[in-house]
Amino acid sequence: MSNPSETELIHMFKGIPFTTRSSLELLKSLDTFDAREDDVLLGSYPKSGTHWLAGVITKLYNTPITLTSPIEFGDVSKLEELNKLSSKRIIPTHLDYNMLPSNFKNKNCKMIYISRNPKDTAVSMYHYYRENPHLPTVDTWTAFFDLFLEGDVVCGSWFDHFLSWEEHKNDKNILFLFYEDMKKDLPKIVKEISVFLDIDISDDDIQDICKKSSFSEMKNNTEKENSDPSHTVCALTSNRKLIFRKGTVGDWKNHFTPKQNLKFEEIFNEKMKLSKMAKRLTY
Ligand code: A3P
Repeated sequence: MSNPSETELIHMFKGIPFTTRSSLELLKSLDTFDAREDDVLLGSYPKSGTHWLAGVITKLYNTPITLTSPIEFGDVSKLEELNKLSSKRIIPTHLDYNMLPSNFKNKNCKMIYISRNPKDTAVSMYHYYRENPHLPTVDTWTAFFDLFLEGDVVCGSWFDHFLSWEEHKNDKNILFLFYEDMKKDLPKIVKEISVFLDIDISDDDIQDICKKSSFSEMKNNTEKENSDPSHTVCALTSNRKLIFRKGTVGDWKNHFTPKQNLKFEEIFNEKMKLSKMAKRLTY
């Protein structure tokens, strides 16, 4: 199959670039989605560790659950399909907080948001753009760097996304996580998630989940999981090898020039001046 032409890959909705794999009809009708009280929403900007988090959560439950693809991916029949699924549904999304179907908020659904140092997120996204035929071509890191800072990439500005969720970080139904904390002390974060989701779990089981959720373990399992639709969190690729690239903190240092770093920090400091969490995201 030949690749779709560049102009067919992206369209705008409410000022934000979406891939055409999110139909405009679906985006327009998202607000009619009938969320259930026991739905769990996983919020993230792309390339922040969504698959890692989803892997941990699916392993935490010992009752049947369904991990869906992001709510905004697909055509308008998506909402109907989700409707037919039995509970419990774990629903990922790359939408910013203000665009979430309002039922998730009205019904106080539990939401877990994962964030990542935006410099590493940009680098991860660059490689994803380079490898993924469903995303526009980017020729160089320099070109992508500017697009990222301008928010001219799928899901829009990292800054706007983060800030929209940060505003709700103290809501009782929201757990706010950082990729870097998962790297530093995964058992602690798994425990935190289990408490938030009211799941009883022994320390031995936590260790077991952490072992199975290591980067190498998840990467090595890609072949098995490639054929299992329940593992397809990202609708932009059915090739999980694109997801598990390097899995490290600080890869930006291998990409950013000193000049790019200065520019990034200047924009970061300006955009994040009201953020109480900015310090957690810079190193
Ligand atoms: P890199 O491209 O920096 O390697 P998402 O799931 O939101 O698309 O995020 C993908 C990023 O999370 C990739 O980052 C990927 O390698 C990293 N990742 C996935 N699983 C991981 C794991 N078990 N441990 C650490 N990083 C992981």
